[in-house]
Amino acid sequence: MRALILSGGHGTRLRPLTYSQQKQLIPVANKPILFYAIEDVIEAGIDEIGIVVGPNKEQVMETVRGVDWDADIEFIYQGEPKGLAHAILVARDYLGDDDFVMYLGDNILKEGIVKHKKHFEKGNFDASILLQEVPDPRQFGVAELSDDGKTIKRLVEKPKEPPSNLALVGIYFFKPVIHEAVKNIKPSWRNELEITDAIQWLIDHGYRVGWTKVTGWWKDTGKPEDLLEANRLILDDIQRNIQVNTKAQIHGRVIIEKGAKIDENTVIKGPVVIGKNVVIRNSYIGPYTSIGDNCIIEDTEIEDSIILEGSEIQNAGRIVESLIGRRVKIINGTSHPLGRKLVIGDNSRLIL
Ligand code: DAU
Repeated sequence: MRALILSGGHGTRLRPLTYSQQKQLIPVANKPILFYAIEDVIEAGIDEIGIVVGPNKEQVMETVRGVDWDADIEFIYQGEPKGLAHAILVARDYLGDDDFVMYLGDNILKEGIVKHKKHFEKGNFDASILLQEVPDPRQFGVAELSDDGKTIKRLVEKPKEPPSNLALVGIYFFKPVIHEAVKNIKPSWRNELEITDAIQWLIDHGYRVGWTKVTGWWKDTGKPEDLLEANRLILDDIQRNIQVNTKAQIHGRVIIEKGAKIDENTVIKGPVVIGKNVVIRNSYIGPYTSIGDNCIIEDTEIEDSIILEGSEIQNAGRIVESLIGRRVKIINGTSHPLGRKLVIGDNSRLIL
């Protein structure tokens, strides 16, 4: 079996971060979201992985190549994101006649895919999907099951009136017949070739589509709130690992990477991850915070936030539930005229 991991698209709902960074590369607990998908696939015993890339292809390729993976990874250029089924069309040669799992590179799944892969293989299905009950299914693909709950009757993409609360998780198993399906569907109202329609084509043409329920947490990290929530969920599972000498007060499950300098006037309450060469002075770092490499934090309280690499925060009061990009400076200025002096990118959000 091969894997096709999707790392294209524009990530408009994560602007301004995605003006300069491909959305699947934004770190959660200091690791690019995309890496969680690659790890899941490798854990399931798959060692041939195709990664679909879009306009920011160089960035994705460089980041992925920076790690020595236990798999052969190839990159497949999609160009403009014309839909999840379109990604399969452009990967046709790479996939050949193999079964494959398609994994959306912005999804994170606690339990991995091992048991779901087994279900697909044991059941000899033509396709198998993953479902989870969600409070608001309108923003997902939604499944309607048969009365006995055994088979899938119908799939609809982002319905205004959902037939159930069972959302499609962004992980799909396919036999090669899916290539016939993606050739036979038409673009949707949002002008994309929808994978949901391709699977519906399989159902309509008598192919067997199985499903499994996701029991652990699952996050589609499309919006800033989702990233913060994914950060909390991942940090909930970390183990204490402090790789530096420090006199700071450190409580609970905290990871501190090499080269970090944290002074004795600082208090850290886990779960927290602090990256390489971070400097922290006279500050409080509270639960569910991830601080990327090379950040400087002084005289500030930060809680429940993601701070990306190279940012500097000084005397900034108390920062909560925030998502702060790379190389950002937040400083309490003392020169006149006093007041807030802002240089903020397009589509930024500042709640003062
Ligand atoms: O996350 C689960 C949902 O993913 C499913 O419930 C929906 O049925 C499915 O259509 C999909 O919906 P989204 O609207 O969330 O998909 P999005 O456009 O965000 O794309 C998902 C990922 O695939 C994202 O990481 C970008 C990438 N992508 C997307 C498109 C449209 C590509 O690489 N190429 C593309 O053409």
